[in-house]
Amino acid sequence: MGTNLRELLIELDRSKPRRLRAQIEDELRDAVRSGRLPPGAALPSSRALATDLGITRGVVVDAYDQLIAEGYLLARTGAGTIVNPASRRDSLESPTSQRIDRIDVDFYGGEPDLELFPRAAWARATRAAMQTMTARDIAYGNVAGIPTLRAALADYLGRVRRVDTTPDRIVVTSGFNHAFNLVSEVLRSSGRDLFAVEDPGYDLTRYGLELLRIRHLGIAVDHDGIDVDALRRTQARVAVVTPAHQSPTGVVLTAERRHELIDWAGAVDGFVIEDDYDAEYRYDRRPIGSLQGLAPDRVIYIGTMSKTLAPGVRIGWMVVPPTLVDRLNALRRVHDGSTSGILQATFANFLYNGDLDRHLRRSRHVYRTRRDGLIAALSRWLPDAETQGIAAGLHVFVNLPVGTDEIEVVDRAVAAGVRVYPLAQYRVPNGPPLPPALVLGYGSVTPDQSDRGIRVLADVLADLQARR
Ligand SMILES: Cc1ncc(COP(=O)(O)O)c(C=O)c1O
Repeated sequence: MGTNLRELLIELDRSKPRRLRAQIEDELRDAVRSGRLPPGAALPSSRALATDLGITRGVVVDAYDQLIAEGYLLARTGAGTIVNPASRRDSLESPTSQRIDRIDVDFYGGEPDLELFPRAAWARATRAAMQTMTARDIAYGNVAGIPTLRAALADYLGRVRRVDTTPDRIVVTSGFNHAFNLVSEVLRSSGRDLFAVEDPGYDLTRYGLELLRIRHLGIAVDHDGIDVDALRRTQARVAVVTPAHQSPTGVVLTAERRHELIDWAGAVDGFVIEDDYDAEYRYDRRPIGSLQGLAPDRVIYIGTMSKTLAPGVRIGWMVVPPTLVDRLNALRRVHDGSTSGILQATFANFLYNGDLDRHLRRSRHVYRTRRDGLIAALSRWLPDAETQGIAAGLHVFVNLPVGTDEIEVVDRAVAAGVRVYPLAQYRVPNGPPLPPALVLGYGSVTPDQSDRGIRVLADVLADLQARR
């Protein structure tokens, strides 16, 4: 999983007066900023890098220490140095403050439009919570969540996502990543210590596993979703998937693969973790039901309000097989105790009043228009560009011409005022090569902005093509 020395491409100029340590620092800093060294990537040991560069080890150790202090790198006790997972947005967003001023269109896919947050309905739900909340709702002891919210969620998830559950199998959390970290620890301690993740896949899943020091490997994704044959050839007993709308390719896990995946989990006495992050946004038809509905004893279902409402709400949930409930709750008690009872009571009212359904109806329409705007801009300015995936979620996956350097496209587009995001961000380090692609979010991008942004992108690509 480590970055090899060739990929680092550090070249020292010994004729320069600048000290070697400063040169190494500059090179590594640039590699992190440009995304060439992706977040979570493991660096070579200081000894290996020093040998490769023909310098003393102390110089490399000092350079690593400096970059750890600056937040670019992270030292993991006994396990080497990695690129700080939290460096992602900084690296891609703010190489200099000048650039930020000049950004006209940002195709960031990680957030919904925060301006659409239903403030009035949320305020009503907060007031109702204060009136209806029981004293026990804010006591210690509701580790898995307050009863009213778990009942409301069981109803909502059964209705909207065909999740098969009762309230006692639901654990309320602060979002997907929180739930994922908790359940990963529980599964690891049950002896299932090798995880499979989608490649390409959601980067924070990998960083979570890195930080928990859980071994994991990438499994290819094709037009039908994760390659279950490839998964079977591994020793993994936990697979993390995004079946409704694969992140980032946008494909749906086919019915056949769903059954294969569940059979695999049974055969290895393992589990599938279903990340159902944006399934409520499907624009051409009703979304396919959850994977969990097919095998409630083998699938851990995780949902979140980060895409549907706003990430700052920090609310999510997992639906777990009964065998895991007690262990999860025991771990939860020492982690953060529980999710705020006041937030939960508010959200329960929001669900019961039908406010989430109303918000989804309204925002689905907005995002559909924005998606159509982006697709129209792509066919206008980049008619040969191939997009992948279904009409859903908040991002579009766009293939670039073979041989294009994604990072160069990103850098040049940013310099021209348009921020786009490379497939590289979603790749497992040292995975097999894939054709270059971009992941373009449209949650906060109007059709006019898409038109301007894609026009710039087309100019950048034409310019690069002409130079080749
Ligand atoms: C694939 C995927 N899963 C989950 C999430 C949400 O995570 P959280 O609920 O921790 O905010 C995101 C957000 O970008 C995502 O892209």
